[in-house]
Amino acid sequence: MKQTILVTGGTGFIGSHTTVELIEAGYNVVIVDNLSNSKIEVLDGIEKITGVRPAFEQVDLRDKEATESVFRKYPAIEGIIHFAASKAVGESVQQPLMYYRNNVISLINLLELMPEYGVKGIIFSSSCTVYGQPKPEHLPVTESAPHQKATSPYGNTKEINEQIIYDYIHSGAGIKSIVLRYFNPIGAHPTALIGELPNGVPNNLIPYVTQTAMGIREQLTIFGNDYNTPDGTCIRDYIYVVDLAKAHVAAMARVLDKQTEPVEYFNIGTGSGNSTLEIVTTFEQATGVKVNWKYGPRREGDIEKIWGDCTHANTVLGWKADTPLADVLASAWKWQQKLREDGVM
Ligand code: NAD
Ligand code: UD1
Repeated sequence: MKQTILVTGGTGFIGSHTTVELIEAGYNVVIVDNLSNSKIEVLDGIEKITGVRPAFEQVDLRDKEATESVFRKYPAIEGIIHFAASKAVGESVQQPLMYYRNNVISLINLLELMPEYGVKGIIFSSSCTVYGQPKPEHLPVTESAPHQKATSPYGNTKEINEQIIYDYIHSGAGIKSIVLRYFNPIGAHPTALIGELPNGVPNNLIPYVTQTAMGIREQLTIFGNDYNTPDGTCIRDYIYVVDLAKAHVAAMARVLDKQTEPVEYFNIGTGSGNSTLEIVTTFEQATGVKVNWKYGPRREGDIEKIWGDCTHANTVLGWKADTPLADVLASAWKWQQKLREDGVM
């Protein structure tokens, strides 16, 4: 019989791609989302790709009673993938309490309900932000690298949530968890039927690149070219969102049936880094489209370089990110073109 998975934030960027992979792997999916940062039409995209329309409940996870009603309605839920969160670093500095309430209370509500409703495992979306800027001898960063004090309330919610999961499970809650620490998720589904929908002026690099290539933004600024890196620009581990989605399918299979430790941690990246300049030039080569860009000052709070050692995920989850960067950037461009075609932007 098909196992049923609750995907919180399932109409969002990573949640929608993961829902597609879960359905294609044979799971039943129930999505909970309050649509605060996504649109209901995402369900149409998921249905077009998979032929299945997942169950959808518009619920705010801060509301415990409403969240409980979902578990009552779908008693077959065995596992949760918890994506739902607010994620804008700058906004979290302006509205810290909103971030703590949304990101922390939602997780607590889910954890409290899990044993009551017989839910065995939860996959949590964490971030490489917990490592801060690793020391040079810690690059590529492994799961055991020291954590550093978060530089934003958003980053802090990831650290706090990891601790909440650890403490709750070690209190004998009888559930299991896998914490996935994502590096920089980018790209869109190859069909261009789902992708990332940034709100307003993008903060993240890839939407800024594609919007500049489309002429929506006049010029991309590369933040800083005097870093201690080969070309002077920052280095990140850019992971294709479809590869990332597949990591969740592997993690779900493990947490439900194979995991012996109560909590496990995995870096989810490609294992190598690319500079901002390399991203722009690879985008131009992959798409044949020029990007108008210039160098500007460093962005406050930016980390110079980070990329992940993902051997643990490769060996234990049997998962590896293997999509070439040029294809990933081409998928982001195809998605941007689809947004234009549909008159979204
Ligand atoms: P997203 O904003 O596209 O998706 C999050 C979804 O959660 C949205 O659809 C939003 O409407 C929903 N949501 C937010 N608060 C909710 C609530 N209280 N109740 C119900 N639904 C709620 O973000 P994403 O990029 O898909 O990120 C998913 C997760 O991965 C987040 O936890 C994020 O912090 C984490 N993460 C993302 C990145 C990244 O670069 N995108 C990197 C590291 C970690
Ligand atoms: C940021 C967040 C991180 C979050 C991630 C995904 C910070 C400090 N970190 O990561 O917590 O998980 O987004 O939401 O905000 N760049 C430019 N020009 C631009 C935009 C970006 O040069 O217009 C550069 C940045 O300096 C950086 C790289 O591109 O070196 C990637 O930036 P971005 O996509 O914002 O991701 P992170 O900063 O890695």
